[in-house]
Amino acid sequence: MTLTGPDRVLAAAPAQPTQALADLAPPAGLSPAQPSAELSAPADERAAWWREAVIYQVYIRSFADGNGDGIGDLLGIRTRLPYLRALGVDAVWITPFYPSPMADGGYDVADYCAVDPLFGTLGDFDALVAEAHAAGLRVIVDVVPNHTSDRHQWFTEALAAEPGDAARGRYIFRPGKGEHGELPPNDWESVFGGPAWTRIVERDGTAGEWYLHLFDPAQPDLNWHNPWVREQFEQVLEFWLDRGVDGFRVDVAHGMIKQHGLPDVGYSGQITMLGNAVLPYFDQDEVHQIHRSWRRILDTYPGERIAVAEAWAPSLERLAAYVRPDELHQAFNFHYLGTPWEAQPLRTVIDQSLGTARLVGAPSTWVLSNHDVQRHVTRYGGGETGQRRARAAALLMLALPGSAYVYQGEELGLEEVFDLPAELLQDPQRFRSADGSSGRDGCRVPLPWNGAVPPFNFTPLGIADGWLPAPAHWAARTVEAQWQDPDSMLGLYREALRLRREHPALGDGALEWSPSPAGTLVFTREPGFVCTVNTGSEPVALPAPGTPVLASGPFELGADAAGQASVVLPPDTAVWWVRSASD
Ligand code: GLC
Ligand code: CA
Repeated sequence: MTLTGPDRVLAAAPAQPTQALADLAPPAGLSPAQPSAELSAPADERAAWWREAVIYQVYIRSFADGNGDGIGDLLGIRTRLPYLRALGVDAVWITPFYPSPMADGGYDVADYCAVDPLFGTLGDFDALVAEAHAAGLRVIVDVVPNHTSDRHQWFTEALAAEPGDAARGRYIFRPGKGEHGELPPNDWESVFGGPAWTRIVERDGTAGEWYLHLFDPAQPDLNWHNPWVREQFEQVLEFWLDRGVDGFRVDVAHGMIKQHGLPDVGYSGQITMLGNAVLPYFDQDEVHQIHRSWRRILDTYPGERIAVAEAWAPSLERLAAYVRPDELHQAFNFHYLGTPWEAQPLRTVIDQSLGTARLVGAPSTWVLSNHDVQRHVTRYGGGETGQRRARAAALLMLALPGSAYVYQGEELGLEEVFDLPAELLQDPQRFRSADGSSGRDGCRVPLPWNGAVPPFNFTPLGIADGWLPAPAHWAARTVEAQWQDPDSMLGLYREALRLRREHPALGDGALEWSPSPAGTLVFTREPGFVCTVNTGSEPVALPAPGTPVLASGPFELGADAAGQASVVLPPDTAVWWVRSASD
């Protein structure tokens, strides 16, 4: 006998339309959210929520526009909290909303303790935190400690000061090399391309010292050997913790300490985002002192406030050092993100990730996409293939032990957008890279919410354009278009997140692999949960390990020659199973 999998399975637990869709409408009707049982639970019951949390990344410019200027903002996030709650995530990480000249989409901060008027006010932020908490969602904000904006008062004071002055000592100023100091102090390169040094003009009009910027020239690197810098950031953390944030995403957490003497690297083409070379400006041992001091601050606040490191460490062992018990709580697993859609490499990186994290007692933190990389539907081949693989990859990721990050729009199956009008592009990486092709704007296109034409109600009245145009064919990918369709990507994420909350085996814990044919992955999470995945290009028959509860695509149940239940998994398909005592 043959049954068709997902239709039957998904029909058993249809995704119900909820309050959220009604609230897809503009700011009016901010419904008072119900207090969440979990957040009001006693401290010991909330303990270590982050070990298994699903955290949704909001790239603020592109999530939802609350005031109609075409740019996402805090009010927009507030109006969409019911959506995030109904989606079933535990927390939201919001990318920088601080005052900024926006040379790098807000990762160039001009004031760490305020809100850029483009995104709203501190009052909006406080309201957002209160409403998120009432809805049972935690809030994580970005902190950008490696560099400031060149418009930050600390930097303008440094420029106005004399060489050698204390204000210069907040940053990394050096005299140039060459007869007249006309060459950069060393051969370090900016992540965005070109040299990592820019020469300034001194107050007397002469060509002067150089300052280090591992990113854009508008992002001068701070000198973290200077205790003054450390004190400033302790106050920044306390400012936001006092306002109730549940944690921080630490930007470039591996970059704050540079090797003493600033030695040359010795070759060019040093690094790209997510690179893994060993370099004198990344992943220096001394950086861990800073993370330890931050952990001490976090631990003085009630309710498990956390920090997640954006650290590009050259190996999983080096990455695990950031999540030692007295350091940060999580570190994005970019090694996993960068692994191709193939069973064997996936299994290897999963084993190594779990193994290295276990050594320090930390959970692993899985991630497939963010605002810096090509969307994974596209990386997995795009089109129908990319969608099929992304669906299977979502079930694989959400079944793994630990915490997971979901980048806004991946739950809609959004692809990278390549044909954006050149005059609208913003990403400094694109401007500075030699071939002009590696920009990150294509994964930052405003989300399609509802309606048939761009910008799909990204803006409140549906009239203004979003800051980047959404493709017309996203009409089929809006939240509205997918919400009630259990076979859609959104339906899949909703159901997976619902099951993940419900099933005791999912979330934190361990996994056990079962032997399976090449190109497949089969693992058990006790008690009684099994995930099967076929990453290959041919259907594969396996013993059916229980009752299917969710599938990324159609599959067939049957029986083998001996009458045992079996399953035929088509290419790029994952199925979740629950085993009862009788299976
Ligand atoms: C991080 C951010 C990225 C930014 C860079 C410089 O990698 O994720 O968007 O450009 O830091 O702040
Ligand atoms: Ca706006």
